[in-house]
Amino acid sequence: MDKTIASKDILDPKIRFSFGKNWTNFLELLDDQRIQEAVKSLQEKLGSTDLKGKTFLDIGSGSGLFSLAAHRLGAQVFSFDYDQDSVNCTKYLRAKYAKNSSTWSIEQGSVLDKTFLEKFAKVDVLYSWGVLHHTGHMYQAFENVSHLVKDNGSLFISIYNDQGGASRRWTWIKKKYINSNNPLIRFILVLYTLLMQWRITFIKDFLNSGNPLKTWFLYGQNDRGMSPWHDLIDWVGGYPFEVAKPEEVFNFFHKKGFQLGKMKTCAGGVGCNEFVFRKKL
Ligand SMILES: C[S@@+](CC[C@H](N)C(=O)[O-])C[C@H]1O[C@@H](n2cnc3c(N)ncnc32)[C@H](O)[C@@H]1O
Repeated sequence: MDKTIASKDILDPKIRFSFGKNWTNFLELLDDQRIQEAVKSLQEKLGSTDLKGKTFLDIGSGSGLFSLAAHRLGAQVFSFDYDQDSVNCTKYLRAKYAKNSSTWSIEQGSVLDKTFLEKFAKVDVLYSWGVLHHTGHMYQAFENVSHLVKDNGSLFISIYNDQGGASRRWTWIKKKYINSNNPLIRFILVLYTLLMQWRITFIKDFLNSGNPLKTWFLYGQNDRGMSPWHDLIDWVGGYPFEVAKPEEVFNFFHKKGFQLGKMKTCAGGVGCNEFVFRKKL
């Protein structure tokens, strides 16, 4: 598995997935129920009913949903994303739900840009869900975020699970998707991904309830307020793509003085492992 990808990859838009365009489409589905689900996921994982008096840095804010959730919980929020469309999505949410807020700033920038990061003071909560493995330099991104958390502060990240040969095959599929302008090829890759990721669930749902799409339709109520379709597109296109075993992520941050508070793995399967670390005093 490529652990490093040449730096030209991250600078070349032809081989970067347009995350922000996918998030722009997702925002059409956003409603109060999804926002509540996002709020709940932060409360559960951070073990706190509110974030009053806390600073919250959302790196790779994407749609902006989790910045909004943290803002609703009372945090002073700083959001940034590399993709200008993602930045625009986050700004759209601020304009819609937190107009004139003086406690939510949004910028365009990269977690790999050390000069850009210098402007941020250390925060109480650093949130970077599903981001650092899409930078093209995951371990550099790990290093950079490790310096941005206050003592006793929380670092909440999720990182793609290393499935060995399967991860290499997904890398190939993602590159094909990104490099292809042919809608038929893209359609076939999306269909393949849909079947690989959902066929067992469709069959189980059909056998248990008669409705093969039961879990699909309940996804937004159960999974961070996300949408299964937009997550699927994010998955098939999401490149640069790196992966790590849970112990690799643990070992890296343990050496940097972080203690693991919570972890949710995908049990060796496809998807992200989630980690909530606390920076030791
Ligand atoms: C899969 S999305 C996750 C969005 C959001 N964190 C969430 O949980 O819904 C990944 C986001 O990371 C952003 N991203 C990728 N590389 C980045 C970088 N070097 N610095 C900041 N953001 C980056 C992408 O533009 C995209 O919006």
